[in-house]
Amino acid sequence: MPAAPATTADTFRPALHYAARNTWLNDPNGLIFHGGVYHLYYQNNPLDNVWGNMSWGHATSTDLLTWTEHPVAIACDEEEDIFSGSIVFDRNNTSGFGTDSAPPLVAIYTSSFKPGTKLEGIQAQSLAYSRDGGYTWTKHSDNPVLNRNSAEFRDPKVIRYDGDAGSYWVMVAVEAKDFQVVLYKSDDLRNWELLSTFGPANATGGPWECPDLFPLPVNGDPENLKWVLTVNLNPGGPNKGSAGQYFVGDFDGAIFTSETTVTEGVDHQGRLSEYQWLDWGRDYYAAVSFSDAPENRRLMIGWMNNWDYANQIPTSPWRSPMTLARELSLHANGGDLRLVQKPVGDWAAAADPTKSFSLNETVISGLQVLDGAAGAVQRIHVTFTPGSAEEFGLVVRGDGMQGTRIGIRPADGSLIVDRRSSGLTDFHECFPSLDTAPIRATEGSYHLTIYLDRCSVEVFAEGGKVTMTELIFPAAASTDLAVYTVGGTATINSLQVDQHV
Ligand code: FRU
Repeated sequence: MPAAPATTADTFRPALHYAARNTWLNDPNGLIFHGGVYHLYYQNNPLDNVWGNMSWGHATSTDLLTWTEHPVAIACDEEEDIFSGSIVFDRNNTSGFGTDSAPPLVAIYTSSFKPGTKLEGIQAQSLAYSRDGGYTWTKHSDNPVLNRNSAEFRDPKVIRYDGDAGSYWVMVAVEAKDFQVVLYKSDDLRNWELLSTFGPANATGGPWECPDLFPLPVNGDPENLKWVLTVNLNPGGPNKGSAGQYFVGDFDGAIFTSETTVTEGVDHQGRLSEYQWLDWGRDYYAAVSFSDAPENRRLMIGWMNNWDYANQIPTSPWRSPMTLARELSLHANGGDLRLVQKPVGDWAAAADPTKSFSLNETVISGLQVLDGAAGAVQRIHVTFTPGSAEEFGLVVRGDGMQGTRIGIRPADGSLIVDRRSSGLTDFHECFPSLDTAPIRATEGSYHLTIYLDRCSVEVFAEGGKVTMTELIFPAAASTDLAVYTVGGTATINSLQVDQHV
């Protein structure tokens, strides 16, 4: 295990996000609500805090903000690494791994076969099952169950399809280097039949990974369902490195038809800003949704890191947090179909009411530190109306020397996160960045909700249609919150800060 640099200690460990106690993690896997708790499994190196020895770690939560770590759920062995995948509750024991009265949980994961094994170099889909509600797992004796003899076939997300075409399991996975999502069906989770493929389409700047497929009501109308296909890619995101795009359309039980494809085929890197992104920031990857979330909610968690520098971020002994869980809904405005994301979890319950801060109707100009608003774990609601300034916004985790700028450039129609002076940035040349996302005013003003949690900022703009998630590594003492403008004035209509205890 690499030694912890003394200066960083554990000041970056998030309060309200999951990070493993003292090991590496990447993609969330097998998200499922079962037995009254949210289960978060994840790509984990149980032996170190860099990528390797891929196994599934495990944590649970009842509030989606605080997590309990459990022993490794599915471990790698001499044959295989356990890559990403999903878990279903096999209610009717279609797989036969449980009994009718005690149906099993079934994990569908990618076996990445190790050098020197019979299937060396192959990625194929395998099963494991749990009969104790997800705490201990047994690998199926006849793995893999789906092998295309491909070195790039991975990340199965299995859902239950119940529709006009019947009732069966559907797997979405990727042929990563073909930029294709492949869809399969099964009655028993053991035997799989190819349904169709989707792609290449829209962003293809790097291999496709970790897909998901789910229905959502349009504008809350249960009679009008559309299907969302999410596809992560690395690299090829709108601000470089890894990112997740999505398509909205229809799924008839066999074929996904996109209504939001801008470009077919590969190589359209000049058009990244025209595609739909789950998040425009640098650190939101491999997001997938929970199976069986209460009240049919569609809840998603992403890995808060970027493969460009993932193994180098200056945290120790752990490395990489997950993002907040977000609830997804689908909004249509004419032909414009967009996901709306809202963090879930009762942030207010975690806040200290004696430390809240607010401000109303204030014209700002230049940089102004807000006395009494400092903090490292905060939720900030702010609404700005532009004035003469070309840029305005907030500086978070500041100290006069360093800080992270979260701003609006109204003439460009852009939201920016500038972390070039955010604290530790020189651990990797790709880390210091000024990132942008397209943003529109709502009735002339801009509302942002920002979550800060020691090493992260998650920005929700345009009512949740635009999000930007970024890691930062500020000095522990850099906790100032400031407002700023560049080249003129702007008005803060309201600002409310809720501080974590
Ligand atoms: C995405 C990914 C997946 C793979 C896993 C391996 O971050 O590359 O495609 O299953 O990580 O850890």
